[in-house]
Amino acid sequence: MARLGVNVDHVATIRQARGTSEPDPVTAAALAELAGAEGITVHLREDRRHIQDRDVAVLRRTIKTRLNLEMAATEEMVGIALKVRPDAVTLVPEKRRELTTEGGLDVILHREILKKQMTLLQEGGITVSLFVDPDAEQIKASHRLGAEYIEIHTGLYCDAQTTEGSRQELAKIEQAIRLAQKLGLGINAGHGLDYRNVRPVAALGGIEEFNIGHSIISRAVLVGLERAVREMLEQIRGG
Ligand code: PXP
Repeated sequence: MARLGVNVDHVATIRQARGTSEPDPVTAAALAELAGAEGITVHLREDRRHIQDRDVAVLRRTIKTRLNLEMAATEEMVGIALKVRPDAVTLVPEKRRELTTEGGLDVILHREILKKQMTLLQEGGITVSLFVDPDAEQIKASHRLGAEYIEIHTGLYCDAQTTEGSRQELAKIEQAIRLAQKLGLGINAGHGLDYRNVRPVAALGGIEEFNIGHSIISRAVLVGLERAVREMLEQIRGG
């Protein structure tokens, strides 16, 4: 059965909007674990737009499951990872102006820098996963570089506008899973998955961990709003 890794970046996004200390992604991670999450994922971006260095350090000390650190393959990030020692690092491409990660790594183009940073992480005892599109050449290149895991980018499947488009993208994910299995790679998947589109991907089998953030945090805001309003009314009306 696949594990669920909950990405708590957007809890930090709300905190950063006010520059205060809440909501704290560390508290969110603890609640996610209590609800059954089997891993916590955070993306420490170069621009620190949501998750901060302090969050990663505190999560490392407090979470009871597994910490998956998403990051760019830069010297700065590798230095932080070697200090914090997450259970896994998922290397992702990162552009400053993007709203979110916009696609998989080009493992073929960036093989030298990836190999260098992967080796440092692996020598430090950290499992490395490469975030790649469901593309045979990228998966084979990930294997050649010595990655233990790939995370299949599900964004194109999630963004498909037609049933046929969605079917085609799902077929690509399935082929990617079968190839990765043949190569002996561990397989995670994520990006854009929500309450409607995750089931067909899970049904393909072979995926060890789903990393899901935006849809879970979005839903939490809405399903939690009624209680939050009632509690404020109680305060105003003096109980
Ligand atoms: N996996 C990777 C590699 C990501 O970059 C992200 C977004 O930070 C996710 C999973 C989670 O995506 P979403 O927030 O769309 O569920």
